[in-house]
Amino acid sequence: MRARVLGAAAGGGFPQWNCACPNCVGVRAGDPAFRARSQASTAVSGDGRDWFLLNASPDIRTQIESFAALHPRAPRDTPIAGIVLTNGDIDAVLGLLILRESQPLHVYATDAVTRGLRERNVLLRTLARFDGHVTWHPLVPGQPTALVGAGGPSGLVLTPVALAGKVALHLETLLLPSGEDNIGLVIADGGGRSLAYFPGLAGPTPECDQRARAADVLMVDGTFYTDDELARLGLGTRRARDMAHWPLSGPDGSLPWLASLPCRRKILVHINNTNPILREDAPERAQLTAAGVEVAHDGLEVEW
Ligand code: MLT
Ligand code: MN
Ligand code: ZN
Repeated sequence: MRARVLGAAAGGGFPQWNCACPNCVGVRAGDPAFRARSQASTAVSGDGRDWFLLNASPDIRTQIESFAALHPRAPRDTPIAGIVLTNGDIDAVLGLLILRESQPLHVYATDAVTRGLRERNVLLRTLARFDGHVTWHPLVPGQPTALVGAGGPSGLVLTPVALAGKVALHLETLLLPSGEDNIGLVIADGGGRSLAYFPGLAGPTPECDQRARAADVLMVDGTFYTDDELARLGLGTRRARDMAHWPLSGPDGSLPWLASLPCRRKILVHINNTNPILREDAPERAQLTAAGVEVAHDGLEVEW
């Protein structure tokens, strides 16, 4: 299996257009302790031919251009065999609208996420230009689904995992919360190799622990370091946990849990621009390294 992080930042990216927090100021100034990052998405393939995007970020166009394996091989073509959505947040789905150039698409999502998109968003009609423009593949937590490649089975099997999370911000007053609003993705190949992609995680559950523990490679929510990160920086009052993101630090943070997992690689994704771990020489970053936890950057590749 091969996975390539196309974007490692949370919604807004790094730097974020309207943010002058110390990290955003530093990366804009070219401080070598920082790397810019685009919004979270990862590409995965079992055979190097068919690729599946895990979420469609607003930065999808430049992300595709940044990775030659995703470029068309014929006048109208894409090696992107499918797009799998973990939730209906703007940073996970806006890229679908960017891919509107009449290319047949396969989108995998839970019923709750699909309804939020198809029934509540008139712009989605740009992906209904002809019959079969988008084939929607329903995902049900716990039920394995074969990912379809261009010429038949891709060899990859996806198991959606219900994760603690919340309904997309723009749907909060329109749809009732459901257990299918936020899922993790476990993708396995025929040889038993697996990737767990959990970019949004509000907190621990037995199911999450069991699925993460069994994965070779875990890519997981690294949005915030502390619960009060935004308030400390004077950027808002909402806490990480209010936004359904499990902060890394503290005895009940995600870092002690991550340190206990046996996975070969444990990689943080969906990192908010305010997070001190983005500074490569920060003490918070050293703590992660000591716990065997990596911080993803755009272009990071894992092959196993
Ligand atoms: C999140 O990860 O909490 C969301 O992407 C926030 C948002 O939709 O702006
Ligand atoms: Mn997000
Ligand atoms: Zn910032």
